[in-house]
Amino acid sequence: MSKKFYITTPIFYANASLHLGHAYVTVLADIIARYHRWKGEETYFLSGVDEHGIKNLRSAEASGRGVQNYFDSRSAEYRALYDSVLSSYDQFIRTTDQKLHWPAAQAIWRKLEEAGDIYKGTYEGLYCVGCETFKQEKDLVNGMCSDHNTLPERLVQENYFFKLSKYTDRIKSALESGELTILPPERKNEIVSLVSEGLEDVSFSRPKKDLAWGVPVPGDESHVMYVWCDALVNYISALGYGSRDDALFKKFWPADLHVLGKDILRFHAAIWPGMLLSAGLPLPKAILAHGLILSGGKKMSKSIGNTVDPNAIMAEYGVDAFRFYLSHEINPFEDGDFTEEKFKEVYNAYLANGIGNLTARVMKMAESYLPEPVAPSASVGIEVVREYEAFMDKYQIHLA
Ligand code: ME8
Ligand code: MG
Repeated sequence: MSKKFYITTPIFYANASLHLGHAYVTVLADIIARYHRWKGEETYFLSGVDEHGIKNLRSAEASGRGVQNYFDSRSAEYRALYDSVLSSYDQFIRTTDQKLHWPAAQAIWRKLEEAGDIYKGTYEGLYCVGCETFKQEKDLVNGMCSDHNTLPERLVQENYFFKLSKYTDRIKSALESGELTILPPERKNEIVSLVSEGLEDVSFSRPKKDLAWGVPVPGDESHVMYVWCDALVNYISALGYGSRDDALFKKFWPADLHVLGKDILRFHAAIWPGMLLSAGLPLPKAILAHGLILSGGKKMSKSIGNTVDPNAIMAEYGVDAFRFYLSHEINPFEDGDFTEEKFKEVYNAYLANGIGNLTARVMKMAESYLPEPVAPSASVGIEVVREYEAFMDKYQIHLA
């Protein structure tokens, strides 16, 4: 049987307006997926949308279009982006999918409960709706979330908690040994030192009276799951975990690579492994935490108002030029910059003047000087492919 390769993108919040960052991670993961398919591996590539949580619900309510209608059209927009960047995804998962996603989220919750890792408690803390997470004072800058420039809200709730603290040592050793590889090494070191400080238990549910939008907690209809609790499960719910037909799960889990931005590495390198360990499931093999795309030196984000619309760029320059820029100009392991001026420069230098002129001249010379067609040099071709593979195997897409 051929080797399998299971690769995922993050599932984006359905409410956010699409920007270049979403297109970037999609193209990055797509390039890696295509590479593994090309090598003959049986590849499965998952993308989707994250539709629960406070942030999503508030936007849906504010839209005045009706909640279901809102999410249907927003997720269709995301799916259209995946198609327009030519993503070769095999499946698109929505967390409002009650047939596929909900049973998996509930099945894993029960596993956590059986392991004695779910308990009820009261939590009071500062919650950033933008991040959909509780914050500690030390995470804030002048009392504000530095990612969103907003004041967190004080929440006091009776919640179910997940005993993540119990898995601190086990997670730390998985990260250190490379059982769960984190790339690049700087991000691995950051996350290992974070875990070394000791992981805290996580509030894993919200009372329905405060947030009636999410996957119901099994056995307690008065609570819905915390959005990250159900969102992370998408990686296995899509494969049929907890459903009658779990053939894809049996075949493809554990993931070979989760591709995501460094902004959400903590959730994937701490909470997600904790959940899997508690449920007795294998850990993903690797996480690639890419850098963020900045625009004019600042993280591209809706709240700052410096976002770039990928559809506008593609409409003007075409999808190939767009993918070329993202793959060639941005080192996946570092932050990258995007401005339309820089895009134009690269477009002219490499594509129009570089490849465009070269092709035109070669064709012209061939017509003028070659009496008949000649075969390209095979040895040069093989050499180039070897170099390409060596870079791809290290995810150095910009060099490949
Ligand atoms: O965090 N530059 O969704 P999200 C590069 N729903 N990539 C960017 C970017 C930028 N400026 N902005 C966003 C969530 N991204 C959760 C994920 S997964 C179980 C749940 C990309 O809509 C990047 O990959 O905020 C980042 O990690 C992801 O979009 C977050 O998208
Ligand atoms: Mg975000």
